[in-house]
This record gives sequence, C-alpha cells and structure tokens, in this order.
Amino acid sequence: MKDFRIGFQSQKVEWDNFSMEYTGKKLPDWLRGNLYRNGPGLYELGVEKMNHFFDGLAKVHSIQFTKDGIFSSGKFLKSKDYDKSTKENKITYSEFATVPDRNIFEKIFVSLLPNTQFGDNASINFMKLKDHFVAIADVPVPVSIQMTNIDTEGEFKYDDKLNLVINSPHPQEDRSNKVVWNFGIEIDLLGTHYVIFKIPDGTRTRIPIAKIHTEHAAYMHSFITTENYIILTEHPLVLDLLKMVTMGITGSSLIEAFDWKQTLGTKFIVVDKRTGKTVEKFSTDTFFTFHHMNAYELEDSIILDLPVYNDMEIINQFYLNRIHSENGGNILTGELRRYKLDLKANSSNYKVVSDCGLEMPIINPNFYMKKYQYGYGVTNNKNKTNDFNNQLVKVNMDTGEYKFWFEDGSYPTEPIFVAKPNSDLEEEGVLLSVVLDGRSESSYLLILDAESFEEMGRAKLPYLIPFGFHGIFLKHIGD
Ligand SMILES: [Fe+2]
Repeated sequence: MKDFRIGFQSQKVEWDNFSMEYTGKKLPDWLRGNLYRNGPGLYELGVEKMNHFFDGLAKVHSIQFTKDGIFSSGKFLKSKDYDKSTKENKITYSEFATVPDRNIFEKIFVSLLPNTQFGDNASINFMKLKDHFVAIADVPVPVSIQMTNIDTEGEFKYDDKLNLVINSPHPQEDRSNKVVWNFGIEIDLLGTHYVIFKIPDGTRTRIPIAKIHTEHAAYMHSFITTENYIILTEHPLVLDLLKMVTMGITGSSLIEAFDWKQTLGTKFIVVDKRTGKTVEKFSTDTFFTFHHMNAYELEDSIILDLPVYNDMEIINQFYLNRIHSENGGNILTGELRRYKLDLKANSSNYKVVSDCGLEMPIINPNFYMKKYQYGYGVTNNKNKTNDFNNQLVKVNMDTGEYKFWFEDGSYPTEPIFVAKPNSDLEEEGVLLSVVLDGRSESSYLLILDAESFEEMGRAKLPYLIPFGFHGIFLKHIGD
C-alpha cells in the first residue's frame, strides 16, 4: 500500500467523460450537477522540480452527476504558464515558492516589468460569475474554462483598471446583494493598500469600495463577510516592500517576500459593506490562518469561526522535500475557534470550539452569513501519526461534539456540501469528497450523508487525482 505521498506527485494522464463505477445506496434524484476541483497536477518540467505544494501547474477535474451515471474529466489548465513551461520543458514563471532559473537579461526584464515574472497558473479555486467560470489563484490572472468539458478558454480579463499584486483566491458570493466580494493588495507611490472590491452580477468589473493604507500588508489567503460587514483577518505574515520590488533581480519567490512578525499580532479589520468605512480593528493574540468557516451578525456582535495556527509553520510544512521526507506526514491542523467581535464595546474574545483539529472548513452554503450549527473539514487521525490528513470531520459548532469518517489508507480532500433543493434543514444534503486511495493508487469520489456523516456510496476512477485545494458544485449542468 502506498502512503499519502503519491498525492503530491504529478498525474500526467488526462481523461474526458470517463464513466465512473458507482457502488452504494441509490443517490437522490436531486443530486444533478458538476463538482469541479482545482489543484496542482504537474510538479516537474524536464529536470526541474517545483519546490512547494502550492506551485504545481493546475489541473482541473470535474465529476458530473447525471441521470445516466457519474462521469469524470481531468484536464490540465492550458494556461500560458502551462503552454510555455511544457513546450520549453522547464519552469518559466515564478510560482508561490519556486522561481525559474533566469539569466541576467531575464532578471533585468522582470525587474523592469514585475508583473511579467508571474504567470497564470490559476490552481487554487474557481470563481463563478453570471456569464463566466474561471480558475483563480493568489496571483490575480484568472483563466476562463468551459463548464461543459473543462476545456481552457484563455485569460479572463477584468473590465477595469485595478492593478493588484495579489488577491484572495476565496471570493465571497453575496446572493442577497447579487455581488461577489473580494480584496487584494495594491502597491503605488504612496505605499501598500488593501483594496476591497465588489463584482456586480453580470459584469466583469471590480468596483473598489474601500482602500485601506497599511504599513504591513499581510498575505491573507481568505477573508469573510457577514450581511453588513467584510472582515479581513490580518495576521502578521507581512510584505517586505524592498524584497517584493527586488525579487526579480534577487531571484526570490513570492512567499519569500513575506516575513512573519510575531509582535505585530493579529487584527480583525471590520469594514462596512455599505459605506466602505473601517468600523473597528480588533487586536487579538497572534495567529495564522488560511481559511474561514463562516461569520454572522448576532445583536451588536460578529461571530466569526475559523481554524488557526500559532504561526506560519504550516506553509513551511508543505515544501515538497519535507513532504517526501521521513516525517512528511506530520502536518499541523488548525485549532477551530469561535471569535466574538463586540462592535459596541469594541472588544473581542474567543473560545476553542473543539479539539478535533480541522482544515478546509466548509458549511452548507445556504447558511453563509447566517447562524448555523455544523462545520465540516479534513483532519488527521491522532491514533495514526505521520499520515497526513486522513479523515473527514463534522463538528457541532455549538457543543464542540464531532464525528469522523475514516478508512485506513484513504486520504479525503476538502468536502463540498450539496444541499437538498428547497430545504431549510441545515443537515439535509450530501458531502462530496475526492479521496486518494493508497491501496489501489487511484482516487474515488466519496458521497456522505451530511446528517449521519455515513457513507452513501463511492464512485471509482482508475486514475489518481493528486491532492488539490478547492472546488465548487454547480447544479445547472447535467440536468
Ligand atoms: Fe484556500
């Protein structure tokens, strides 16, 4: 049996509309649509290797539920980065923690035109706009893909003049206001700023609603919204401007332009969606985070749930030479906390929700920005050390009680909640997780009943899907 490390290897095979073998209970008829997953699929170009889990060239997978069965496709995102790198058989653009071997002329060129050092390897997540479906990453160069067959359409161009160095690959859909929210870091002659913007439904225009000057722009992978507020969780992994502007010539990577500055602490910056004004900044103890689970308003407070880490060590743990080393499976998981930000008293406090450990937090999407009870994610089995994230977890956010789904040799990835249509019941739905199976060296889609957290069935692939990052389920395909 192979261990988790096969999930950090390239998978060069592409497939189209492969009929997956399903075993299990009859699936509900309302489960129709496409699960899309994004993540790295290629870590080597010729003799050159990427350094980090976040560097691999993007591969998109789709799993389509139709009345005739479950079908899967897996295709590389044919970005400019992918095309150039595979054609030249070498790393050609700077990734998160990998830099190409540039000669002095190339170094001068990318120093004069800094945006040219980064490609469009949109490997992290997806963004669904009314008329567009795009793959996205921290570097703000999205790539459009066809929803039907996941073929790459080409660069997605925003219809605006915003010039961001980095943006969050976790845009927040706000159904009631019919906008998508996001933020990024802008550098101009006055320094560094967070720019919070919205993309109105049916457009490709980012409209800034707030520009917040900061001396220490933080690498924030995600943020969270409530009905009236946007909250940036500003931890102290901060941009060194000099390192950033000289990285072309020094040959350092994007993550190397950020330093962990413990003493700066962590702050919640609360911005009013309606006015763009910063309402409060809540200082709290120092922590690092990738992802937020949910947030909502309760009387004069904001309740905000997220998994946190003491520092940025989790990023270092994803360097591939560490992953493939003897202790590479020992990975931190986040401590799930519930923060209460009291807007009236300008004070905050938190409690640890559970000791289960959790990453890739998700909920029933109908409960975004609302009071809710259940969160889901991946974690590792404390009885099986040095084995990477090997189980799924469901947590009752009120009581801290939890349930696991575990199968020895299986490595589940971020579950996606698909709610039963027109249901108000939070647990009424299924969870879909692409699982790497170390026994067969292939992957399967696991379908769990969200309420019982028990398996309904699984659909097998003869192929292996490397560990990815994020996904989305969209209903309107395959009806
Ligand atoms: Fe993420």
